Amino acid sequence: MIQMLIKIRKALSDDMSFIKECIEKFQLDDEDLDCRQFVVAVEGNEIVGFGRIRPHKEVYELGSIGVVEHKRNQGIGEMIIKYLIDNFPTDDVYITTDIPEYFKKLGFKKTEPSPKELVEKLERICKSKCREGAIVMVYKKGD
Ligand SMILES: CC(C)(COP(=O)(O)OP(=O)(O)OC[C@H]1O[C@@H](n2cnc3c(N)ncnc32)[C@H](O)[C@@H]1OP(=O)(O)O)[C@@H](O)C(=O)NCCC(=O)NCCS
Repeated sequence: MIQMLIKIRKALSDDMSFIKECIEKFQLDDEDLDCRQFVVAVEGNEIVGFGRIRPHKEVYELGSIGVVEHKRNQGIGEMIIKYLIDNFPTDDVYITTDIPEYFKKLGFKKTEPSPKELVEKLERICKSKCREGAIVMVYKKGD
């Protein structure tokens, strides 16, 4: 029932310093951090989580999902992901992740072949963040 107190809204430019701090701490994708891509989950005035829809050249990617440590395992991550899926501009919702078990429970499946630019992103970012074993997954809206 805690989720009734949590609201999701578009991120404001003032939210970005906190989001960037968390992205660094949680070792998430720190490329192209444009506030217009992000949403935040808020409880009162506190940001408790965030995520984004990142446009690449040919595909969009759901990503940079983070929940503050003291609010984890209360359904906030799932709430943000469902919100972003509902607002995703295409039926194929791509994600790159090193925690496939978490996303599998939410209906994502491993995809191969994967869009080239996401494979390149995996090589570029996930390796530099030591996110070994990261893969591309897709959630197909309407399936
Ligand atoms: C991953 C993350 C977003 C999950 O958010 P959350 O609000 O804590 O998770 P939810 O409440 O939606 O889901 C909880 C469930 O997911 C599972 N889960 C949580 N983190 C997990 C992880 N890292 N790996 C696998 N399963 C995980 C929990 O065990 C729980 O399972 P249950 O429902 O069977 O009890 C959060 O732990 C986080 O911010 N992690 C650091 C950043 C990160 O790794 N982001 C994802 C990068 S792709």
